[in-house]
Amino acid sequence: MKKLLIALLAAAVFAAPALAADVVVFEAKNGNVTFDHAAHQKRAECAKCHQGTPAKFEVTKDWAHATCKGCHQEKSGPTKCNDCHKK
Ligand code: HEC
Ligand code: HEC
Ligand code: HEC
Repeated sequence: MKKLLIALLAAAVFAAPALAADVVVFEAKNGNVTFDHAAHQKRAECAKCHQGTPAKFEVTKDWAHATCKGCHQEKSGPTKCNDCHKK
């Protein structure tokens, strides 16, 4: 299981375009949220999340719950607390 995970991570690192961080982990006291940026770049236009030229920005709880969860409710993706927040 551990080996499989490492193999998957390695594959993700080599396959993704060098545009931005591939996987970002947001720390939250109720469980960290792992966000696959590379996968989301293929799922949605940059402007769904970025204003102007895409760059690093601070992700707040309110923004995340409106934008991340909002799109998942509209299209598909995790909407339950523990689907995103993992301890
Ligand atoms: C689509 C994914 C997603 C879902 C679903 C979601 N959250 Fe979050 N949540 C986030 C992200 C991303 C953050 C921002 C983390 C940060 O502040 O770095 C966050 C932040 C938070 C924070 C602030 C944590 C801190 O340490 O400041 C709390 C509390 C929280 N969420 C509770 C909930 C609860 C309760 C639910 C269910 C009703 C929920 N979340 C559902 C993604 C999600
Ligand atoms: C589903 C939402 C979402 C989409 C779609 C998205 N991004 Fe992002 N992007 C983010 C978030 C959230 C961050 C901030 C991550 C962090 O806090 O480190 C980010 C960060 C970045 C960064 C800064 C990386 C760094 O570490 O300095 C760049 C550059 C970027 N995105 C480019 C893009 C481009 C180009 C596209 C479209 C092809 C895109 N993003 C699509 C959510 C998204
Ligand atoms: C514009 C739409 C959109 C936005 C915004 C968005 N997502 Fe998603 N997300 C998706 C879709 C589509 C899936 C794939 C669902 C599926 O496979 O059925 C997904 C899947 C996920 C998954 C499951 C693992 C994976 O990557 O397949 C997580 C966790 C996740 N998103 C977290 C986030 C977080 C955190 C944010 C905000 C920083 C976010 N998403 C913003 C569309 C979005």
